[in-house]
Amino acid sequence: MQAFFEKQERRGLIMICDFTYYSPTKVVFGKGRERETGVLVKERGAQKVLILYGGKSAQKSGLLFRVTDSLEQAGIAYAALGGVTPNPRLSFVRMGTQKAREEGIDLILAVGGGSVIDAAKAISYALCYEGDVWDFYAGKAQAQKALPVGVVLTLAASGSELSNSSVITNDRTHEKRGYNSDLARPVFAVMNPELTMTLPAYQTACGCCDIIMHTLERYFVQGPSMELTDALAEGLLRTVMAQSLILRDHPDDYDARAEIMWAGSLSHNDLTGLGHCARDFATHRLEHEVSGLYDVAHGAGLTALWGSWARYVYKDCLPRFVRFARNVMGVTTDGTDEEIALKGIEAMVDFYHSIGMPASFHELGIDPTDAQIDEMARRCLEACGSA
Ligand code: NZQ
Ligand code: ZN
Repeated sequence: MQAFFEKQERRGLIMICDFTYYSPTKVVFGKGRERETGVLVKERGAQKVLILYGGKSAQKSGLLFRVTDSLEQAGIAYAALGGVTPNPRLSFVRMGTQKAREEGIDLILAVGGGSVIDAAKAISYALCYEGDVWDFYAGKAQAQKALPVGVVLTLAASGSELSNSSVITNDRTHEKRGYNSDLARPVFAVMNPELTMTLPAYQTACGCCDIIMHTLERYFVQGPSMELTDALAEGLLRTVMAQSLILRDHPDDYDARAEIMWAGSLSHNDLTGLGHCARDFATHRLEHEVSGLYDVAHGAGLTALWGSWARYVYKDCLPRFVRFARNVMGVTTDGTDEEIALKGIEAMVDFYHSIGMPASFHELGIDPTDAQIDEMARRCLEACGSA
């Protein structure tokens, strides 16, 4: 008992930071639940929705038909707009805003992955703003209002279905910038893990790694942390790694798809960072420059960068890297803290390779010149407000 109190006293020196947890999205999870979309829209009191989707996947799988059927059954009018590309473009957002205005839309329904959801969020800001929507992404304005966004998720990755973020690429300047506002947290998210079974293996793996990275970016903090939050983060990381390996060998495994899909949402709705006094999205910041310039898949850009980032910073955050090696990567060998930390990093890089993900620019298939790297670094600092 004495030891317990001493421990509490020691812990008393560590301050858990105050937080506000706001996760207002209604989650409707499971097989076939996209058929409830119409009812969910009706609950919001919307009269006419803009269905936003990407390339061909939602049409090919029949999902789009099931969604429109559900809207019709609920008596909801709709217009549809396809063509959102991965790393969604500002020009598309402007065009979609125009269409939504013409159609008199009062809810945007994103049917797709992070790119479709992010485009929907951007359009929802634009519809309630008289200036140029890029102002938000350029840090020149704060949104005061946004139209509601609903989601039918087809890819577990970005966490955008529960997050307050939206990431858009300015196709003129190649700047890829995020904007965060609670106004854009989706009002509902339909998550049927079966819908992700049509994904190519590479895209599934990219998604798993993005989920891992949203958790790691919150986990590697220098300051105090919250034990419960760390345990949630470590459990989520172990789960996603184990389930990714199952999906690599058995892409039709429903339970693995379900585990990954829910992990994706929890990894980016702030749950895995609560109580921490800081978070460091450095790998994301760097990756946004890479995919802004090279249009690579976000998850692959992240794994290409992470090992280098980790080897560069681990000494400044040694206890966390040791904890990560022990609790997440299962490193059991003895050694100095530095050796254990490095083993943890190498084990993570091996994991990326094991599911076909790159761990360098070369493996990502890009070969930037020194001048291009300098330019990406400059832009990254500018985006962080440090240039
Ligand atoms: O366009 P379609 O034909 O649908 O094909 C897509 C696309 O080519 C395909 N796909 C999606 N669901 C599918 C499917 N193919 C077959 N079956 C399905 N069920 O997958 C490809 C990639 O889709 P995309 O939406 O781009 O992927 P993801 O969900 O990884 O989103 C990436 C975007 O999200 C941003 C990224 O930067 C990137 O722009 N992020 C957004 C975040 C947020 N809003 O919170 C946070 C993230 O860190 C991230 O930055
Ligand atoms: Zn991400």
